[in-house]
Amino acid sequence: MGSTSSSSVLSILLLPLLILLLLPSMIITTSANPFHQDFEITWGDGRAKILNDGELLTLSLDKASGSGFQSKNEYLFGKIDMQLKLVPGNSAGTVTAYYLSSKGSAWDEIDFEFLGNLSGNPYILHTNVFSQGKGNREQQFYLWFDPTADFHTYSILWNPQRIIFSVDGTPIREFKNMESSSVPFPKNQPMRIYSSLWNADDWATRGGLVKTDWTQAPFTASYMNFNADACVWSSGSSSCASTSSTSSSNSWLSQELDSASQKRLQWAQKNYMIYNYCSDTKRFPQGLPPECFTS
Ligand SMILES: *[C@@H]1O[C@H](CO)[C@@H](O)[C@H](O)[C@H]1NC(C)=O
Repeated sequence: MGSTSSSSVLSILLLPLLILLLLPSMIITTSANPFHQDFEITWGDGRAKILNDGELLTLSLDKASGSGFQSKNEYLFGKIDMQLKLVPGNSAGTVTAYYLSSKGSAWDEIDFEFLGNLSGNPYILHTNVFSQGKGNREQQFYLWFDPTADFHTYSILWNPQRIIFSVDGTPIREFKNMESSSVPFPKNQPMRIYSSLWNADDWATRGGLVKTDWTQAPFTASYMNFNADACVWSSGSSSCASTSSTSSSNSWLSQELDSASQKRLQWAQKNYMIYNYCSDTKRFPQGLPPECFTS
């Protein structure tokens, strides 16, 4: 009896204390790293900015220049998430590119590109995969939301077996390792993360018909909550870890689409895909590329 009441008194006193002690660490583990820790601004002469103690990064574009940033680290495989809020209003002619790329003439690259549009008209999300300098693997999508109204999460899962592009957790594209069919797969060259906002009104909007309206400049795109569970490359070897301390396992290194994710991929492709190189028989008169014939 006596011991019960003293232990309950103890817990009444200790519980608030414990919560107070744990609260700061709970907050720290759920927030992303500040941008200046993982990224550097590479061009744009002041048009790219890291704000709010590193919580927010903005790129801007005006008639004189666009702007861009890149990751400090190179990665060899990773599960990389970024939240983006795209140029609002009349963004026709502008392109926000967010991609992974290695260096050299036989480079690998995994691309998200957001092609702006006139107010109220849909952005196009353009994707591509390059391996050893060869791309020509475009797939394009409309989005099921207005990507300028809020931040949305755009993710690349890149492991030795596959590349999966996702939007708010919904997979939209999978590029499988098909080395067994002699299709090179990006797996030997470390890549950096790059992003830029630039003018591409010669092709971006309705194939170049709609030009950038410079009276609307500066155009601004915003970034938040970068997270990478990735293998960081340094002096010839890679070590795999998470930038957030919340996840500890490297299960993403062998992750694949479960049946629920496959259904969502099919949903996205059926309803939102507007171009698929694998259906473009005119473009490949000698036959579609081998990776288009998956089981
Ligand atoms: C812009 O809007 C037009 C008209 O709705 C549409 O055809 C086009 O695909 C949209 N996106 C881009 C980037 O051109």
